[in-house]
Amino acid sequence: MRNKIVAGNWKMNMDTQETDALIGTLKGQSLPADVTVIIAPSFTNLDRANQAVKGSKITVAAQNMHQASHGAFTGEVSVDMLKSVGVDTVILGHSERRSDFGETDNIIGLKVAAAIVNGMTVIFCFGEDLSQRESGSHFSVVKKQLEKGIFDLPNSALSKVIFAYEPVWAIGTGETASPEQAQEMHAFVRKTIAERYDNALADSVSILYGGSVKPNNANEIFAGKDVDGGLIGGAALDAVGFAAIANSF
Ligand code: 13P
Repeated sequence: MRNKIVAGNWKMNMDTQETDALIGTLKGQSLPADVTVIIAPSFTNLDRANQAVKGSKITVAAQNMHQASHGAFTGEVSVDMLKSVGVDTVILGHSERRSDFGETDNIIGLKVAAAIVNGMTVIFCFGEDLSQRESGSHFSVVKKQLEKGIFDLPNSALSKVIFAYEPVWAIGTGETASPEQAQEMHAFVRKTIAERYDNALADSVSILYGGSVKPNNANEIFAGKDVDGGLIGGAALDAVGFAAIANSF
């Protein structure tokens, strides 16, 4: 049985006090035993967040990392730095990293490889933009992102990958993919993984949907048989709403 997962990508939000408060409130919510709950605060708050979640079922992820182990990369954070504060999960390939920070499929592939070699779990994001959806190229766009980002990994690495389909046109826009659109793409992703690896492996991986998931639409989106949860942006900044989303399976 694959894992149900709800992950909150806090993006560049929440200072130290706000991080403490959000985690404090979240820990007071009832979170289902069978759902993995992940939060991804800013780099500056990862250490304290990881301390703060101790004793709860919440785990902490980073939002990015550099592909090199160390060196002259001003402003960057390495995998060893994340591990040294006890963080072993990282979001990679987010569309904001791709479009705003010039991360190409090749760079993302290097980051994924570096994370996996170092024993990290990767939340791998991918998804088409509006023009690609409108021109009907969304399946081929997604397939290429999977090929470049993931498909060089050996079978043994797939248990360390959480897939996150995030159509760019649905991120932060209030417009979600319909449950049918999400399920259709998730089924395609699983089929594509099965073709590269095998059916059993494809069946075992979790594929999350991200893009304007809210407490009032999570249930219908998560109902898709290939939708194993969500990667939540804005709605993850409200502990009560985020917990409600985690309870939406
Ligand atoms: P929103 O939920 O704010 O649309 O963001 C989704 C996202 O980008 C999660 O990584």
